Amino acid sequence: MPLPLSPPSQAIADVLAALDGFPLLQGPRVRLRGPREDDDAALFALFGDARVMRYWSRPPMQSIDEAREQIARIQADMAERRLINWAIADENDALVGTCTLFRFDPTHRRVELGYALHPDHWGRGLAREAASLALDWAVDVAGFHRIDAGIDPDNLASRALLHRLGFLTEGVQRESFFVGERVTDSELLGLLASDWRRQREAAAAAAR
Ligand SMILES: CC(C)(COP(=O)(O)OP(=O)(O)OC[C@H]1O[C@@H](n2cnc3c(N)ncnc32)[C@H](O)[C@@H]1OP(=O)(O)O)[C@@H](O)C(=O)NCCC(=O)NCCS
Repeated sequence: MPLPLSPPSQAIADVLAALDGFPLLQGPRVRLRGPREDDDAALFALFGDARVMRYWSRPPMQSIDEAREQIARIQADMAERRLINWAIADENDALVGTCTLFRFDPTHRRVELGYALHPDHWGRGLAREAASLALDWAVDVAGFHRIDAGIDPDNLASRALLHRLGFLTEGVQRESFFVGERVTDSELLGLLASDWRRQREAAAAAAR
């Protein structure tokens, strides 16, 4: 019989269990919403692009059917509360990327963050905005204590984004990740809820 969860851990499990679909998170320029069947072409454009997949764990998609299968899988994963794989939608509600919270661990109050943005939109701060929405939800609504992230150490854009969000590099796992036949190290980063609150306040103060 599993041990009972502590009250904060139980609160996280309760938030996840009570979800009746993708939380809709609105930012100034992007919104996070659940992916729809008519996002298939945009999802294929994203994950079929070799620039996006350069540091990803799988090769670029070859056909739109793979995008359709992925949308069905994302919806099933959400229904089972395995992960929340949002679409990043622009002001026209078109999918321009994805942002994911996965590996939910209510017992230790931690979760992992991932994201991808179509290269047409790189360098405009949209990934930072999307990730910030997901972090707000993870910390303020779900009550997670720690957010993990893992990157290929050569993925400079992703490291820059995570450091900008307040993540600290905490270590490197050697040869822990296969991309096809190529094995790479994993740089492990972490953000505590207290780091995020501090970072958010500093960013708000700088904007005033
Ligand atoms: C990682 C990714 C989402 C970043 O997107 P982006 O649009 O460049 O991100 P943002 O514009 O929000 O930039 C965030 C910060 O990173 C910096 N940055 C972005 N690209 C950079 C690069 N190539 N080199 C150095 N810094 C970079 C930006 O200057 C910005 O810092 P600032 O806010 O201080 O100006 C995008 O490169 C991507 O989708 N890559 C492919 C998928 C991927 O690798 N996902 C991560 C897997 S771990």
